[in-house]
Amino acid sequence: MDICKVLSLLLVGTWASLVSGDLTECDALTMICGNLVQEAFTTYPNYADLKTPQLIQRLGYPVEEHNVTTADHYILTMYRIPYSNSSPPALGKIPVLLVHGVLASSVQWLWQPPDRSLAFMLADSGFDVWLGNSRGTSYSRGHTFLPSNDPNNLTYWDFSFHEMGLYDLPATVNYINSLTSQRIYYVGHSLGTTQFFSGISLNPGLASKIRAMFSLATSGYINHMTNAFFRASAPFLVISATEQTINQLGGGQFLPQVMQQYIGDFTTYCTQYTLNCGVCNTVFGVLFGIDMCQTDFRELPGILAHLPDTTSTKTFAHIAQDATLGTFRQYDYGLNNFAEYGSLLPPNYDWSKYHVPTVIYYGDNDNLAVPIDVLATANALRPNVVQLSRVNYSTWDHMDFVIGKDADVYLYNDMLNIMRNHTYG
Ligand SMILES: *[C@@H]1O[C@H](CO)[C@@H](O)[C@H](O)[C@H]1NC(C)=O
Ligand SMILES: *[C@@H]1O[C@H](CO)[C@@H](O)[C@H](O)[C@H]1NC(C)=O
Ligand SMILES: *[C@@H]1O[C@H](CO)[C@@H](O)[C@H](O)[C@H]1NC(C)=O
Ligand SMILES: *[C@@H]1O[C@H](CO)[C@@H](O)[C@H](O)[C@H]1NC(C)=O
Repeated sequence: MDICKVLSLLLVGTWASLVSGDLTECDALTMICGNLVQEAFTTYPNYADLKTPQLIQRLGYPVEEHNVTTADHYILTMYRIPYSNSSPPALGKIPVLLVHGVLASSVQWLWQPPDRSLAFMLADSGFDVWLGNSRGTSYSRGHTFLPSNDPNNLTYWDFSFHEMGLYDLPATVNYINSLTSQRIYYVGHSLGTTQFFSGISLNPGLASKIRAMFSLATSGYINHMTNAFFRASAPFLVISATEQTINQLGGGQFLPQVMQQYIGDFTTYCTQYTLNCGVCNTVFGVLFGIDMCQTDFRELPGILAHLPDTTSTKTFAHIAQDATLGTFRQYDYGLNNFAEYGSLLPPNYDWSKYHVPTVIYYGDNDNLAVPIDVLATANALRPNVVQLSRVNYSTWDHMDFVIGKDADVYLYNDMLNIMRNHTYG
Protein backbone atom coordinates (compact mmCIF):
# COMPACT_ATOMS: atom_id res chain seq x y z
CA MET A 1 0.00 0.00 0.00
CA ASP A 2 1.23 3.46 -0.87
CA ILE A 3 3.00 5.19 2.04
CA CYS A 4 1.22 8.50 1.51
CA LYS A 5 -2.17 6.83 1.65
CA VAL A 6 -1.28 5.02 4.85
CA LEU A 7 0.00 8.19 6.44
CA SER A 8 -3.01 10.25 5.50
CA LEU A 9 -5.31 7.55 6.85
CA LEU A 10 -3.29 7.59 10.05
CA LEU A 11 -3.66 11.35 10.39
CA VAL A 12 -7.35 11.29 9.55
CA GLY A 13 -7.80 8.54 12.11
CA THR A 14 -5.98 10.42 14.86
CA TRP A 15 -7.87 13.59 14.16
CA ALA A 16 -11.21 11.79 14.05
CA SER A 17 -10.50 10.16 17.42
CA LEU A 18 -9.68 13.43 19.05
CA VAL A 19 -12.82 15.04 17.67
CA SER A 20 -15.05 12.11 18.58
CA GLY A 21 -13.63 11.96 22.11
CA ASP A 22 -12.46 8.38 21.61
CA LEU A 23 -9.45 9.08 23.82
CA THR A 24 -9.84 8.45 27.54
CA GLU A 25 -8.65 10.52 30.46
CA CYS A 26 -5.94 7.94 30.97
CA ASP A 27 -4.25 9.19 27.83
CA ALA A 28 -3.12 12.14 29.91
CA LEU A 29 -0.87 9.66 31.73
CA THR A 30 1.21 9.33 28.61
CA MET A 31 2.80 12.65 29.41
CA ILE A 32 4.89 10.96 32.07
CA CYS A 33 5.77 7.84 30.15
CA GLY A 34 9.01 9.08 28.60
CA ASN A 35 11.26 8.27 31.54
CA LEU A 36 9.93 4.74 31.88
CA VAL A 37 10.36 4.11 28.18
CA GLN A 38 13.88 5.46 28.40
CA GLU A 39 14.58 3.09 31.28
CA ALA A 40 13.38 0.14 29.23
CA PHE A 41 15.52 1.17 26.30
CA THR A 42 18.55 1.22 28.56
CA THR A 43 17.75 -2.34 29.67
CA TYR A 44 17.00 -3.59 26.15
CA PRO A 45 18.76 -1.30 23.68
CA ASN A 46 18.10 -3.71 20.84
CA TYR A 47 14.56 -4.66 21.65
CA ALA A 48 13.61 -4.77 17.99
CA ASP A 49 16.14 -7.57 17.47
CA LEU A 50 14.51 -9.73 20.11
CA LYS A 51 12.16 -11.96 18.14
CA THR A 52 9.74 -14.51 19.56
CA PRO A 53 12.34 -17.23 20.34
CA GLN A 54 14.73 -14.77 22.00
CA LEU A 55 11.92 -13.21 24.02
CA ILE A 56 11.09 -16.68 25.34
CA GLN A 57 14.69 -17.67 26.02
CA ARG A 58 15.66 -14.43 27.75
CA LEU A 59 13.28 -15.39 30.56
CA GLY A 60 14.76 -18.87 30.93
CA TYR A 61 12.06 -20.82 29.10
CA PRO A 62 12.75 -23.50 26.47
CA VAL A 63 11.55 -22.86 22.92
CA GLU A 64 11.08 -25.08 19.87
CA GLU A 65 10.44 -24.00 16.29
CA HIS A 66 8.03 -26.00 14.13
CA ASN A 67 7.32 -25.40 10.44
CA VAL A 68 4.02 -26.54 8.97
CA THR A 69 3.09 -26.52 5.30
CA THR A 70 -0.56 -25.78 4.50
CA ALA A 71 -2.60 -27.53 1.82
CA ASP A 72 -2.13 -24.45 -0.39
CA HIS A 73 1.68 -24.49 0.03
CA TYR A 74 2.24 -21.71 2.57
CA ILE A 75 4.84 -22.48 5.22
CA LEU A 76 3.95 -21.37 8.74
CA THR A 77 6.30 -21.17 11.70
CA MET A 78 4.98 -21.99 15.15
CA TYR A 79 6.86 -21.63 18.42
CA ARG A 80 6.39 -24.00 21.30
CA ILE A 81 7.13 -23.65 25.01
CA PRO A 82 6.90 -27.34 25.93
CA TYR A 83 7.64 -27.02 29.66
CA SER A 84 9.18 -24.62 32.18
CA ASN A 85 11.26 -24.54 35.35
CA SER A 86 8.13 -24.74 37.48
CA SER A 87 6.60 -27.47 35.32
CA PRO A 88 9.20 -29.97 34.10
CA PRO A 89 8.78 -32.08 30.95
CA ALA A 90 6.04 -34.70 31.30
CA LEU A 91 3.89 -36.87 29.08
CA GLY A 92 0.30 -35.95 28.45
CA LYS A 93 0.52 -32.17 28.81
CA ILE A 94 -2.46 -30.52 27.17
CA PRO A 95 -1.58 -28.26 24.24
CA VAL A 96 -2.85 -24.68 24.09
CA LEU A 97 -2.61 -22.85 20.76
CA LEU A 98 -2.52 -19.04 20.97
CA VAL A 99 -3.33 -17.14 17.76
CA HIS A 100 -2.66 -13.41 17.45
CA GLY A 101 -4.64 -10.62 15.80
CA VAL A 102 -4.17 -8.67 12.58
CA LEU A 103 -0.91 -6.69 12.18
CA ALA A 104 0.50 -8.62 15.14
CA SER A 105 2.35 -11.94 15.53
CA SER A 106 3.26 -14.51 18.20
CA VAL A 107 5.36 -11.79 19.79
CA GLN A 108 2.20 -10.19 21.22
CA TRP A 109 1.97 -12.87 23.92
CA LEU A 110 5.49 -12.26 25.22
CA TRP A 111 5.69 -8.64 26.29
CA GLN A 112 4.48 -9.04 29.84
CA PRO A 113 6.55 -10.49 32.68
CA PRO A 114 6.09 -14.28 33.14
CA ASP A 115 3.78 -14.01 36.16
CA ARG A 116 1.19 -12.07 34.15
CA SER A 117 1.78 -13.21 30.58
CA LEU A 118 -0.68 -15.83 29.34
CA ALA A 119 1.92 -17.89 27.46
CA PHE A 120 4.27 -18.19 30.45
CA MET A 121 1.47 -18.65 32.97
CA LEU A 122 0.19 -21.57 30.89
CA ALA A 123 3.66 -23.14 30.62
CA ASP A 124 4.17 -22.74 34.38
CA SER A 125 0.78 -24.36 35.01
CA GLY A 126 1.69 -27.52 33.11
CA PHE A 127 0.35 -26.78 29.63
CA ASP A 128 2.17 -27.36 26.34
CA VAL A 129 2.12 -23.88 24.79
CA TRP A 130 2.03 -23.27 21.03
CA LEU A 131 2.23 -19.80 19.49
CA GLY A 132 0.83 -19.54 15.97
CA ASN A 133 1.90 -17.07 13.29
CA SER A 134 -0.58 -16.38 10.50
CA ARG A 135 0.54 -16.45 6.86
CA GLY A 136 2.05 -13.18 5.71
CA THR A 137 3.48 -12.15 9.10
CA SER A 138 7.23 -11.72 9.32
CA TYR A 139 7.42 -15.11 11.08
CA SER A 140 5.43 -17.10 8.51
CA ARG A 141 6.76 -16.01 5.17
CA GLY A 142 7.54 -19.36 3.67
CA HIS A 143 5.95 -20.74 0.52
CA THR A 144 6.98 -23.86 -1.33
CA PHE A 145 7.32 -22.02 -4.67
CA LEU A 146 6.12 -18.38 -4.56
CA PRO A 147 8.44 -15.44 -3.76
CA SER A 148 6.99 -14.51 -0.37
CA ASN A 149 9.36 -11.62 0.26
CA ASP A 150 8.21 -9.65 -2.77
CA PRO A 151 5.62 -7.21 -1.37
CA ASN A 152 4.13 -6.84 -4.85
CA ASN A 153 3.71 -10.47 -5.84
CA LEU A 154 -0.06 -10.63 -5.89
CA THR A 155 -0.04 -14.39 -6.27
CA TYR A 156 1.58 -14.84 -2.85
CA TRP A 157 -0.44 -12.04 -1.18
CA ASP A 158 -3.74 -13.28 -2.61
CA PHE A 159 -5.24 -14.30 0.74
CA SER A 160 -7.43 -12.93 3.50
CA PHE A 161 -8.57 -14.31 6.87
CA HIS A 162 -10.60 -16.76 4.77
CA GLU A 163 -7.46 -18.69 3.80
CA MET A 164 -6.11 -18.43 7.35
CA GLY A 165 -9.26 -20.24 8.49
CA LEU A 166 -9.49 -22.61 5.56
CA TYR A 167 -5.81 -23.65 5.46
CA ASP A 168 -3.74 -22.32 8.38
CA LEU A 169 -6.15 -23.48 11.07
CA PRO A 170 -6.39 -27.16 10.01
CA ALA A 171 -2.65 -27.32 9.23
CA THR A 172 -1.64 -26.10 12.69
CA VAL A 173 -4.35 -27.91 14.67
CA ASN A 174 -3.71 -31.23 12.88
CA TYR A 175 0.04 -30.87 13.32
CA ILE A 176 -0.18 -30.31 17.07
CA ASN A 177 -2.85 -32.98 17.45
CA SER A 178 -0.87 -35.66 15.65
CA LEU A 179 2.40 -34.79 17.41
CA THR A 180 0.90 -34.81 20.92
CA SER A 181 -2.14 -37.12 20.50
CA GLN A 182 -4.04 -34.55 22.54
CA ARG A 183 -7.06 -32.40 21.87
CA ILE A 184 -6.17 -28.76 22.22
CA TYR A 185 -7.38 -25.53 23.74
CA TYR A 186 -7.49 -22.65 21.27
CA VAL A 187 -7.04 -19.03 22.38
CA GLY A 188 -7.72 -16.41 19.72
CA HIS A 189 -7.30 -12.66 19.91
CA SER A 190 -9.10 -10.45 17.39
CA LEU A 191 -8.43 -11.84 13.88
CA GLY A 192 -7.32 -15.01 15.66
CA THR A 193 -11.00 -15.44 16.55
CA THR A 194 -12.24 -14.47 13.05
CA GLN A 195 -10.16 -17.11 11.31
CA PHE A 196 -11.26 -19.69 13.88
CA PHE A 197 -14.98 -18.97 13.33
CA SER A 198 -14.64 -19.04 9.54
CA GLY A 199 -12.27 -22.01 9.58
CA ILE A 200 -14.47 -24.22 11.78
CA SER A 201 -17.59 -23.36 9.78
CA LEU A 202 -15.77 -24.45 6.59
CA ASN A 203 -14.24 -27.53 8.19
CA PRO A 204 -16.61 -28.60 11.02
CA GLY A 205 -14.79 -31.91 11.58
CA LEU A 206 -11.88 -30.00 13.07
CA ALA A 207 -14.01 -29.32 16.16
CA SER A 208 -13.35 -32.87 17.37
CA LYS A 209 -9.71 -31.89 17.97
CA ILE A 210 -10.56 -28.79 20.02
CA ARG A 211 -11.46 -28.94 23.73
CA ALA A 212 -12.70 -25.36 23.93
CA MET A 213 -12.08 -22.00 22.34
CA PHE A 214 -11.28 -18.83 24.30
CA SER A 215 -12.31 -15.76 22.38
CA LEU A 216 -10.57 -12.49 23.30
CA ALA A 217 -11.68 -9.35 21.42
CA THR A 218 -14.21 -11.48 19.53
CA SER A 219 -14.34 -10.45 15.88
CA GLY A 220 -17.16 -12.16 13.99
CA TYR A 221 -19.64 -9.37 13.32
CA ILE A 222 -17.72 -6.11 13.38
CA ASN A 223 -19.91 -3.46 11.80
CA HIS A 224 -20.17 -1.24 14.88
CA MET A 225 -16.43 -0.83 15.32
CA THR A 226 -15.55 2.76 16.22
CA ASN A 227 -11.80 2.52 15.61
CA ALA A 228 -11.15 5.65 13.60
CA PHE A 229 -8.35 4.18 11.48
CA PHE A 230 -10.53 1.29 10.31
CA ARG A 231 -13.57 3.50 9.85
CA ALA A 232 -11.57 5.96 7.79
CA SER A 233 -9.91 3.35 5.60
CA ALA A 234 -12.80 0.89 5.17
CA PRO A 235 -14.66 2.73 2.36
CA PHE A 236 -11.50 2.96 0.24
CA LEU A 237 -10.70 -0.69 0.76
CA VAL A 238 -14.24 -1.83 0.01
CA ILE A 239 -14.48 0.19 -3.18
CA SER A 240 -11.11 -0.94 -4.44
CA ALA A 241 -11.82 -4.55 -3.52
CA THR A 242 -15.18 -4.79 -5.22
CA GLU A 243 -13.96 -2.89 -8.25
CA GLN A 244 -11.12 -5.33 -8.61
CA THR A 245 -8.59 -2.53 -8.46
CA ILE A 246 -6.85 -3.75 -5.36
CA ASN A 247 -3.78 -3.67 -7.56
CA GLN A 248 -3.95 0.08 -7.90
CA LEU A 249 -4.16 0.42 -4.15
CA GLY A 250 -0.74 -1.08 -3.91
CA GLY A 251 -2.11 -4.62 -3.64
CA GLY A 252 0.18 -7.20 -2.15
CA GLN A 253 1.53 -6.60 1.30
CA PHE A 254 -0.40 -4.19 3.49
CA LEU A 255 2.51 -2.66 5.35
CA PRO A 256 5.56 -2.49 3.15
CA GLN A 257 9.04 -2.08 4.53
CA VAL A 258 8.95 1.67 4.11
CA MET A 259 6.00 1.95 6.47
CA GLN A 260 7.73 -0.13 9.11
CA GLN A 261 10.82 2.00 8.68
CA TYR A 262 8.70 5.07 9.28
CA ILE A 263 7.17 3.58 12.41
CA GLY A 264 10.66 2.67 13.63
CA ASP A 265 11.74 6.30 13.25
CA PHE A 266 8.58 7.40 14.97
CA THR A 267 9.34 5.16 17.94
CA THR A 268 12.86 6.51 18.27
CA TYR A 269 11.56 10.05 18.07
CA CYS A 270 9.01 9.33 20.74
CA THR A 271 11.49 7.95 23.21
CA GLN A 272 14.09 10.65 22.75
CA TYR A 273 11.75 13.49 23.47
CA THR A 274 9.75 12.80 26.58
CA LEU A 275 6.83 15.03 25.75
CA ASN A 276 6.27 13.50 22.35
CA CYS A 277 5.61 10.19 23.99
CA GLY A 278 1.99 11.24 24.36
CA VAL A 279 1.67 11.87 20.64
CA CYS A 280 3.29 8.55 19.84
CA ASN A 281 1.02 6.65 22.19
CA THR A 282 -2.01 8.44 20.86
CA VAL A 283 -1.30 7.31 17.34
CA PHE A 284 -0.78 3.73 18.42
CA GLY A 285 -3.78 3.91 20.71
CA VAL A 286 -5.94 4.97 17.79
CA LEU A 287 -4.51 2.29 15.54
CA PHE A 288 -4.58 -0.67 17.89
CA GLY A 289 -6.73 0.25 20.86
CA ILE A 290 -3.96 0.48 23.43
CA ASP A 291 -5.41 1.65 26.75
CA MET A 292 -3.00 3.94 28.58
CA CYS A 293 -4.37 2.97 32.01
CA GLN A 294 -3.38 -0.63 31.35
CA THR A 295 -0.05 0.03 29.66
CA ASP A 296 3.18 -0.75 31.44
CA PHE A 297 5.33 1.87 29.77
CA ARG A 298 8.45 -0.18 30.38
CA GLU A 299 7.04 -2.64 27.87
CA LEU A 300 6.29 0.01 25.31
CA PRO A 301 9.56 -0.12 23.39
CA GLY A 302 9.08 -3.85 22.92
CA ILE A 303 5.52 -3.36 21.78
CA LEU A 304 6.34 -0.56 19.38
CA ALA A 305 9.35 -2.39 18.00
CA HIS A 306 7.17 -5.29 16.83
CA LEU A 307 3.80 -3.73 16.10
CA PRO A 308 2.59 -3.54 13.39
CA ASP A 309 3.63 -6.74 11.67
CA THR A 310 2.63 -7.43 8.07
CA THR A 311 -0.40 -8.94 6.36
CA SER A 312 -2.02 -8.78 2.93
CA THR A 313 -4.03 -5.83 1.66
CA LYS A 314 -6.75 -8.35 0.83
CA THR A 315 -7.07 -9.24 4.53
CA PHE A 316 -7.83 -5.60 5.23
CA ALA A 317 -10.25 -5.39 2.33
CA HIS A 318 -12.11 -8.46 3.64
CA ILE A 319 -12.32 -6.97 7.14
CA ALA A 320 -13.51 -3.70 5.61
CA GLN A 321 -16.29 -5.49 3.71
CA ASP A 322 -17.69 -7.10 6.87
CA ALA A 323 -17.19 -3.89 8.87
CA THR A 324 -19.12 -1.88 6.30
CA LEU A 325 -21.91 -4.32 5.48
CA GLY A 326 -22.49 -6.05 8.81
CA THR A 327 -21.90 -9.44 7.21
CA PHE A 328 -19.72 -12.37 8.15
CA ARG A 329 -19.10 -13.95 4.80
CA GLN A 330 -16.50 -14.90 2.22
CA TYR A 331 -14.57 -12.34 0.23
CA ASP A 332 -16.65 -10.14 -2.05
CA TYR A 333 -15.20 -10.18 -5.59
CA GLY A 334 -17.91 -7.87 -6.94
CA LEU A 335 -18.63 -8.71 -10.56
CA ASN A 336 -16.46 -11.79 -10.32
CA ASN A 337 -18.52 -13.39 -7.56
CA PHE A 338 -20.40 -15.45 -10.08
CA ALA A 339 -17.22 -16.92 -11.50
CA GLU A 340 -15.85 -17.48 -8.01
CA TYR A 341 -18.93 -18.77 -6.16
CA GLY A 342 -21.62 -19.32 -8.76
CA SER A 343 -23.73 -16.66 -7.09
CA LEU A 344 -24.06 -12.88 -7.12
CA LEU A 345 -23.14 -12.53 -3.45
CA PRO A 346 -20.42 -14.32 -1.52
CA PRO A 347 -21.60 -17.20 0.74
CA ASN A 348 -22.05 -16.45 4.44
CA TYR A 349 -19.96 -18.41 6.91
CA ASP A 350 -22.44 -20.89 8.32
CA TRP A 351 -22.62 -20.53 12.10
CA SER A 352 -24.77 -23.66 12.33
CA LYS A 353 -21.72 -25.72 11.35
CA TYR A 354 -19.79 -24.48 14.38
CA HIS A 355 -19.71 -26.83 17.37
CA VAL A 356 -16.96 -25.84 19.79
CA PRO A 357 -17.51 -24.87 23.46
CA THR A 358 -16.65 -21.18 23.40
CA VAL A 359 -15.67 -18.84 26.23
CA ILE A 360 -16.00 -15.17 25.37
CA TYR A 361 -14.47 -12.18 27.16
CA TYR A 362 -15.22 -8.64 26.02
CA GLY A 363 -14.19 -5.11 27.01
CA ASP A 364 -16.42 -2.05 27.25
CA ASN A 365 -13.86 0.24 25.61
CA ASP A 366 -12.75 -2.11 22.82
CA ASN A 367 -12.97 0.09 19.72
CA LEU A 368 -12.56 -2.81 17.26
CA ALA A 369 -14.53 -5.63 18.89
CA VAL A 370 -17.20 -3.44 20.46
CA PRO A 371 -19.64 -5.05 22.93
CA ILE A 372 -22.72 -4.76 20.69
CA ASP A 373 -20.93 -6.72 17.94
CA VAL A 374 -19.49 -9.28 20.37
CA LEU A 375 -23.01 -9.90 21.67
CA ALA A 376 -24.31 -10.32 18.10
CA THR A 377 -21.58 -12.87 17.42
CA ALA A 378 -22.32 -14.62 20.72
CA ASN A 379 -25.96 -14.77 19.70
CA ALA A 380 -25.05 -16.38 16.39
CA LEU A 381 -22.87 -18.91 18.23
CA ARG A 382 -25.42 -19.31 20.98
CA PRO A 383 -25.64 -23.01 21.81
CA ASN A 384 -21.84 -23.10 21.85
CA VAL A 385 -21.22 -20.15 24.15
CA VAL A 386 -20.49 -21.73 27.53
CA GLN A 387 -19.41 -18.48 29.16
CA LEU A 388 -19.83 -14.83 28.20
CA SER A 389 -17.84 -12.52 30.47
CA ARG A 390 -17.55 -8.76 30.46
CA VAL A 391 -14.15 -7.69 31.76
CA ASN A 392 -15.01 -5.74 34.91
CA TYR A 393 -12.93 -2.69 34.02
CA SER A 394 -14.60 0.23 32.30
CA THR A 395 -11.79 1.23 29.91
CA TRP A 396 -10.79 -2.31 28.87
CA ASP A 397 -9.58 -1.96 25.28
CA HIS A 398 -8.63 -4.15 22.33
CA MET A 399 -4.97 -4.70 23.19
CA ASP A 400 -5.56 -4.99 26.94
CA PHE A 401 -6.44 -8.66 26.38
CA VAL A 402 -2.76 -9.24 25.59
CA ILE A 403 -0.81 -6.32 27.05
CA GLY A 404 -3.07 -5.05 29.83
CA LYS A 405 -1.01 -5.08 33.00
CA ASP A 406 -3.95 -6.53 34.96
CA ALA A 407 -5.02 -9.07 32.33
CA ASP A 408 -4.02 -11.88 34.70
CA VAL A 409 -6.50 -10.63 37.31
CA TYR A 410 -9.29 -9.86 34.85
CA LEU A 411 -9.16 -12.95 32.65
CA TYR A 412 -6.04 -15.16 32.58
CA ASN A 413 -6.63 -16.62 36.07
CA ASP A 414 -10.19 -17.46 35.06
CA MET A 415 -9.00 -19.08 31.82
CA LEU A 416 -6.42 -21.14 33.72
CA ASN A 417 -9.04 -22.33 36.18
CA ILE A 418 -11.31 -23.40 33.33
CA MET A 419 -8.49 -25.32 31.62
CA ARG A 420 -7.13 -26.92 34.79
CA ASN A 421 -10.59 -27.96 35.94
CA HIS A 422 -11.50 -29.27 32.46
CA THR A 423 -14.69 -27.27 32.94
CA TYR A 424 -15.69 -27.36 29.28
CA GLY A 425 -13.55 -30.04 27.64
C1 LIG B 1 11.50 -23.07 9.30
O1 LIG B 1 11.49 -22.30 8.12
C2 LIG B 1 12.34 -21.17 8.18
C3 LIG B 1 12.11 -20.30 6.97
O2 LIG B 1 11.74 -21.03 5.86
C4 LIG B 1 13.78 -21.65 8.30
O3 LIG B 1 14.65 -20.53 8.38
C5 LIG B 1 13.91 -22.48 9.57
O4 LIG B 1 15.20 -23.03 9.67
C6 LIG B 1 12.88 -23.62 9.58
N1 LIG B 1 12.92 -24.24 10.89
C7 LIG B 1 12.91 -25.55 11.07
C8 LIG B 1 12.92 -26.03 12.48
O5 LIG B 1 12.90 -26.33 10.14
C1 LIG C 1 4.65 -14.13 -8.46
O1 LIG C 1 5.84 -14.87 -8.65
C2 LIG C 1 5.65 -16.08 -9.40
C3 LIG C 1 6.97 -16.84 -9.41
O2 LIG C 1 8.04 -16.01 -9.71
C4 LIG C 1 5.20 -15.72 -10.80
O3 LIG C 1 4.98 -16.91 -11.56
C5 LIG C 1 3.88 -14.95 -10.69
O4 LIG C 1 3.47 -14.54 -11.98
C6 LIG C 1 4.08 -13.72 -9.80
N1 LIG C 1 2.78 -13.11 -9.65
C7 LIG C 1 2.56 -11.82 -9.89
C8 LIG C 1 1.15 -11.37 -9.83
O5 LIG C 1 3.46 -11.05 -10.15
C1 LIG D 1 -16.58 -4.86 39.44
O1 LIG D 1 -15.66 -3.93 39.94
C2 LIG D 1 -16.21 -3.04 40.94
C3 LIG D 1 -15.13 -2.07 41.36
O2 LIG D 1 -14.30 -1.73 40.34
C4 LIG D 1 -16.69 -3.85 42.12
O3 LIG D 1 -17.31 -2.97 43.05
C5 LIG D 1 -17.68 -4.89 41.67
O4 LIG D 1 -18.02 -5.72 42.76
C6 LIG D 1 -17.08 -5.75 40.56
N1 LIG D 1 -18.09 -6.65 40.05
C7 LIG D 1 -17.88 -7.95 39.91
C8 LIG D 1 -19.01 -8.75 39.34
O5 LIG D 1 -16.83 -8.49 40.21
C1 LIG E 1 -10.98 -24.87 39.64
O1 LIG E 1 -11.74 -23.68 39.62
C2 LIG E 1 -11.89 -23.02 40.87
C3 LIG E 1 -12.72 -21.80 40.68
O2 LIG E 1 -13.86 -22.07 39.93
C4 LIG E 1 -10.57 -22.65 41.44
O3 LIG E 1 -10.71 -22.11 42.74
C5 LIG E 1 -9.67 -23.86 41.51
O4 LIG E 1 -8.38 -23.44 41.90
C6 LIG E 1 -9.60 -24.53 40.15
N1 LIG E 1 -8.79 -25.72 40.21
C7 LIG E 1 -7.69 -25.83 39.51
C8 LIG E 1 -6.94 -27.13 39.62
O5 LIG E 1 -7.30 -24.94 38.79
